[in-house]
Amino acid sequence: MSSSLKEYIKRNSERVDRALDRFLPSASTKPSAIHRAMRYSLFAGGKRLRPILAIAAAEACGGRASRALAVASAVECIHTYSLIHDDLPCMDDDDFRRGKPTSHKVFGEGMAVLAGDALLTIAFEIAAASRPTSRYAQADFVRELARASGSLFLVAGQAADLEGEGKKISHAQLRFIHERKTSALLTCAMRLGAMSANAAPAQLHAVTQAGHNLGMAFQVIDDILDATKTTEELGKTAGKDEKFHKATYPSILGMKRAREEANRFTLAAHRAIRSLGACAFRLKQLSDYLLIRQC
Ligand code: FPP
Ligand code: MG
Repeated sequence: MSSSLKEYIKRNSERVDRALDRFLPSASTKPSAIHRAMRYSLFAGGKRLRPILAIAAAEACGGRASRALAVASAVECIHTYSLIHDDLPCMDDDDFRRGKPTSHKVFGEGMAVLAGDALLTIAFEIAAASRPTSRYAQADFVRELARASGSLFLVAGQAADLEGEGKKISHAQLRFIHERKTSALLTCAMRLGAMSANAAPAQLHAVTQAGHNLGMAFQVIDDILDATKTTEELGKTAGKDEKFHKATYPSILGMKRAREEANRFTLAAHRAIRSLGACAFRLKQLSDYLLIRQC
């Protein structure tokens, strides 16, 4: 990774951390257990990938990072809620995430469910605090987030994933799951960033195409990493997909074709990013980084 991209990621993830800290009730706010649990997962060392993509998409449409911070933070709250619930014993039953014990291991199952619920809910309050633009009202930001998180997208992907466990599923079904479980929220982050920058319809369309393809590349690579990296390298239990007979891109297509798919999605994202012009150079750099990431 180039040192300027490293610096860009560091600067913007610190900005996002400060914004999240402002938006969330303090850890001592009563009942303090729930606020400590919300903050524990939110500040557990996530890459802040979705917020950074939201900021880069805003800049690609001629906007500023400061205007994208509310929507970027809202998406990170949804992402964190989904990971807390995904790790619960009734879902993937995972003890580690980002190298730390998962929420239910630290706070108990009940509090972990509530921390997820509260992060999901506060996301809409934060999105509603975003400044409207001439093309997009606050209700547009909230609707966008609700749609990507609801039973047609994020929850749809998780539900189809649960139903598919232990079954033989097709490439098309796997694509359905990945598009909803991962790609939709990543696309939503970038669309919200673009909307905070008052993107014109053609810009929003290009950002949507880029987000969809980057989201797919991201999940295919996640599948590859699960099969090839160690638990220490990933900060979460490695090899779970195979152990639980989960369908993944490598298990359905083989490792070589899975890597080709990741490349293909990244190239499609590049085409869309190119159409946004020179301001999109961070988006291009970030998409290259996602393809070669190792954790
Ligand atoms: C890792 O992101 C996350 C994914 C690959 C997405 C997984 C999606 C789910 C678990 C859906 C769960 C949905 C519900 C409704 C329970 P990352 O590598 O950016 O994580 P980081 O923030 O820890 O870096
Ligand atoms: Mg999981």
